[in-house]
Amino acid sequence: MNTGFSILAGRVRLRHLRPADLPVFAAYRADPSVCRFQGFDPFSEAQAIGFIARHTAADIPAAPGEWVQIAIARSANDELLGDCALHLLAHEPRIAEIGITLAPQQQGRGYASEALRGLLRFCFEELGLHRVVALVDPRNAPSVALMERVGMRREGHFRQNGWYKGEWCDEYQYALLAADWAAAG
Ligand SMILES: CC(C)(COP(=O)(O)OP(=O)(O)OC[C@H]1O[C@@H](n2cnc3c(N)ncnc32)[C@H](O)[C@@H]1OP(=O)(O)O)[C@@H](O)C(=O)NCCC(=O)NCCS
Repeated sequence: MNTGFSILAGRVRLRHLRPADLPVFAAYRADPSVCRFQGFDPFSEAQAIGFIARHTAADIPAAPGEWVQIAIARSANDELLGDCALHLLAHEPRIAEIGITLAPQQQGRGYASEALRGLLRFCFEELGLHRVVALVDPRNAPSVALMERVGMRREGHFRQNGWYKGEWCDEYQYALLAADWAAAG
């Protein structure tokens, strides 16, 4: 358990989810537009309550093979803006997969870029990871733009690589190596 987890990244802070985040979290997790290109369906209120309860004191990172969700809060007033996710691969925990979601009203302001840079800094500079990957549906233009904005390299286009929301979906694989991060300074 590491409840003191806190990463300041520009205007945002990455921290544990808290019970006080529930109204904002439940609202955006219930929004079909937020879930459109993600592996989960819109949450019920009960799911949101349970999800926050499981994450308020979760280990960050979680045990290899398990995802942990991390709150993205506005550093000035601690308002929840969205969340990001971190998963060390079970077979190779020096490699992580990440994900990110912002509440619709917080998109288009640069908060996701700042949060992702903070998460990458944590992965490479504190956890000492070798490689971080993210899978993105090519139709998810804001997410594709985000990956490229933070310097992730598009390594592959996997055709119909996942079954989501009743259809086979293509995925771009983005990745960054520790050496890339160090070189970018
Ligand atoms: C993917 C997602 C997190 C991207 O969020 P985003 O807000 O577009 O990304 P950023 O925070 O980097 O914001 C960039 C935008 O803010 C604008 N912006 C405004 N103020 C800014 C500032 N101070 N600094 C940087 N950018 C700023 C940029 O110009 C850019 O606008 P554009 O999209 O019109 O070019 C968001 O679309 C989302 O949550 N989608 C739903 C969930 C999802 O699909 N997640 C991905 C699963 S793989």
